[in-house]
Amino acid sequence: MNVDVDGIGSVSGTLVVPVMENACEVSSLNLTEVAEGLVETISHVIENGDFKGKAGSSLTIHSTAGKAILVGLGKEKDLDTDAIRNAGASLVSGRGKQHGKEFTARLAGLSSEHAAAYIEGAILRDYDYDQYKSKDDDDDDDGELSLHAQVDDVAGVAAAAGLSAQVATGVHLARDLGNAPPNDLYPMAYAEKAIKWAEGKDNATVTVIEYEEALKLGMGGLCAVGMGSDRKPCMVIFELNSDAGEQPPVIVGKGITFDTGGISIKPSASMDEMKYDMHGSATVFGLMQALWASGHAGRVVGISCMAENMPASNAQRPGDVITTMSGKTVEVLNTDAEGRLVLSDGLHKASQYNPEFIIDLATLTGAVVIALGHEATGMWCNDDDLAERLKNSGNACGELIWPMPLLPAFEKDMKDSKIADLRNLGGTRWGGSNTAAAYLKQFVGTTGEGDDEKQIPWAHLDIAGTAWGAKTNKMVAHGATGIHVRALHHLLTQK
Ligand code: BES
Ligand code: MN
Ligand code: ZN
Repeated sequence: MNVDVDGIGSVSGTLVVPVMENACEVSSLNLTEVAEGLVETISHVIENGDFKGKAGSSLTIHSTAGKAILVGLGKEKDLDTDAIRNAGASLVSGRGKQHGKEFTARLAGLSSEHAAAYIEGAILRDYDYDQYKSKDDDDDDDGELSLHAQVDDVAGVAAAAGLSAQVATGVHLARDLGNAPPNDLYPMAYAEKAIKWAEGKDNATVTVIEYEEALKLGMGGLCAVGMGSDRKPCMVIFELNSDAGEQPPVIVGKGITFDTGGISIKPSASMDEMKYDMHGSATVFGLMQALWASGHAGRVVGISCMAENMPASNAQRPGDVITTMSGKTVEVLNTDAEGRLVLSDGLHKASQYNPEFIIDLATLTGAVVIALGHEATGMWCNDDDLAERLKNSGNACGELIWPMPLLPAFEKDMKDSKIADLRNLGGTRWGGSNTAAAYLKQFVGTTGEGDDEKQIPWAHLDIAGTAWGAKTNKMVAHGATGIHVRALHHLLTQK
């Protein structure tokens, strides 16, 4: 989408007029420099009470003098950033073919923050995954949308819109990766995309630990999950601004390019959705792009744990005991609890960077979808300050992050193997997301010595409910959401 930000001026394309409920008077609508005939029609509609400005409503007007869309914003007191971001997104999703590709949005009268959120919503929603569709000759859907935003605070809104556009390149990249079919996006295909991405970027590097090397390094979790596939596993490490700072934040992603369950095979209904099981790694990649595009100067490390979980004669079995890179042994009781196995090595590797903190993202459990639906990501965290910052970042971006309990009883459960240090399955099915988080905690390293020794601040984000299928997420039509590229960008870049 092409976006430009200016003061009130002439109208090109379809005029977009946000209308507040109750404050629904023509005089409050900033209709200067709008063709007289169109102003008359809009006035007629509003004065007749045919459009009341209710939240989520919209009305298309065709007159001989031009086209307009009235957009209801609801009551002024209820108007928040989320509502207005949704309104911006619905301009893109709800526009009819008759409106063409060009819009002039009269956002004057809105606060700078609200005007910027409206533009952000439109930018985020302007995404299609159509790479695999054959093009129709008479497909007139090509060409970019143009949004001319007319605002009061031109400099402030232009800066915010520019940043939104930069960050959106990361969100859209994460969606592309998430939506990619699993026959084309396998572990080394992801690695190759990452290498290509880093080419020509002075401050970015990508290192790939391929299967053979991962075996040598003792990455027993990653290798056990990926060995049953012809498409072998790998670990992809992104680094931005490696010279800037001693203690980088490290972001770790689960990257199962397809999760059949392995020998503990899943039922076939909706199994296709398990192509999204790499969304943690999609977010890591998208975040790196967002940080790079927005010129982030700090050091950041991203680690993607890539594997395809297949049943095969050389796949791991339930009952196997594996040794992870940390030295801890794990009894594999269910090969479908594979995300935690690859993350065992990812979190251990992350701990070696002397990190300021570690955040992992994983489509880890069906149980978190039972708990929170598609409305929020579950967060388990060993550090109150980090938890607070993550929650606030999620709220600021409309990507809710909800605190969940890290309890000693869940850790005890996961340590209760008769023959190994840990087991990858809890003793009961209850609280399945909590036991998974408690398992991951065993692989987060420590800092300091003696009495000063403490665990590295760490948060685990279970995005199984928010990475796709989130129908109330107005930023996306369907498929991968690109969840938390924005929230993590916010977290890492806010002063
Ligand atoms: N990738 C799945 C989790 C998942 C399932 C995400 C459905 C979204 C929708 C994960 O690898 C998995 O299979 N988890 C198991 C864990 C169980 C075997 C302890 C689950 O949630 O059933
Ligand atoms: Mn699984
Ligand atoms: Zn999985």
